[in-house]
Parts: sequence; C-alpha cells; structure tokens
Amino acid sequence: MDAGDLLKQVRLMPVVVIEDARKAVELAHILLEAGIGAIEITLRTECALAAIENIASAVPGILLGAGSVRTPQHFASISSAGAVFAVSPGHSDSLLAAAAAQRMPFVPAAATASECIKLLEHGYRLQKFFPAELLGGVANIKTLSAPLPELRFFPSGGITSANAREYLNCPAVACISGTWFLPMDALNAGDFETISRLAREAVAIIKD
Ligand code: 3PG
Repeated sequence: MDAGDLLKQVRLMPVVVIEDARKAVELAHILLEAGIGAIEITLRTECALAAIENIASAVPGILLGAGSVRTPQHFASISSAGAVFAVSPGHSDSLLAAAAAQRMPFVPAAATASECIKLLEHGYRLQKFFPAELLGGVANIKTLSAPLPELRFFPSGGITSANAREYLNCPAVACISGTWFLPMDALNAGDFETISRLAREAVAIIKD
C-alpha cells in the first residue's frame, strides 16, 4: 500500500502535534490557505484521533493523514477517524500487514540500506527517512539513492527553513516533512497568525 501515488503532488508535509482538537479545523484551513494541501496529525497526543475526525468532517479539501503510527491497531482507528494515509517513524512486519489489510496508503520509515531494500520488497517506493538530520541528512540520502534509484525519500527530523531547499534539490527526495513551521506554543495559544506566516514562508522556500 505504497503512498507514492496519493502523495505525488505533495512536496511539504506538516507534522502536527496537537493538544486541543478544537484547533484542528482552523489549522487545516490556515495550511490550505498557505498553499499546503496535506496534513499529518501525529498520534502523540490524546486528542489526535478527535483532531483527525474534526478535520475529516470540516475540511474535505485537505489530504488528511496520521503520523507516528506504531501499532497495527492504529490503522483501523485512523481509518475510522477519516485519515486517508499513514506515516510511521519506522516499520515492522505487523505494521506492513495491517497497512495491507486496511488498504491504507502508508509511508513506513527506513534508516539503512537493508531497511530500504526490505520495504522495496514489500512494494514501498516512497519511504520516510527518519530522523533525517541525525542520519546524515542529504549526504546520506544521496549515498543511499545511488544503489536504490527506484526509491523516493520522505525525510523528516531536523528539517528547518535553513536546510529545506537543500533536501528538495536532491532528486531522490519526493517530499520533506517536519514541524518547524508549526511551533507548539503558537498552536496551543491559538496564534494562527504566526502559523500562517511561518507556513507561507515554508511554501515560499519549497517554490524557490
Ligand atoms: C516526525 O515525526 O516526522 C518528526 O518528529 C518531525 O521532526 P521535526 O520536529 O524535527 O521536524
């Protein structure tokens, strides 16, 4: 259940850690207005599923996914909540089986050539590369992609406005993802002006 086709237009994936599901709908609107067509709500907070439900019912125009997916049961719950794709910081045989059983487009993560090859064997040509900066960033992606030309990377972890362009300039990178334009203090305070400004700055970087 490779997510490559579903996400092929997406170059920037916001990774959202949300503590108040009531803020989810406005956040999704702000991102859409800034030119960001997809959103990944991480299953790191108690209200994550409620946030997914809220966005699914109020903002059908955004491509809605769940992140930090790490148990097979997560696939059924995020699908019921309205998510249409899943992202994980890693992978396991049971996660791959659950994604297939749920027919859920999935971006599992790999950090080594052996993990990349295992996921390619399962049909995953789009793979999260996490935590990107700690793994050597763009230099590592370039090195891995030489013997794995069919693979497209979805790096995340340590990407900021300072290095986003460098990642996107790498032909093996399909989409960058991260939290740098969604500061939690701004989201918790309902400071959507700041988020809107940072999101627009992020979009300007990817369009450069
Ligand atoms: C993720 O889940 O993709 C990462 O937590 C994002 O990492 P960042 O906070 O460094 O952008």
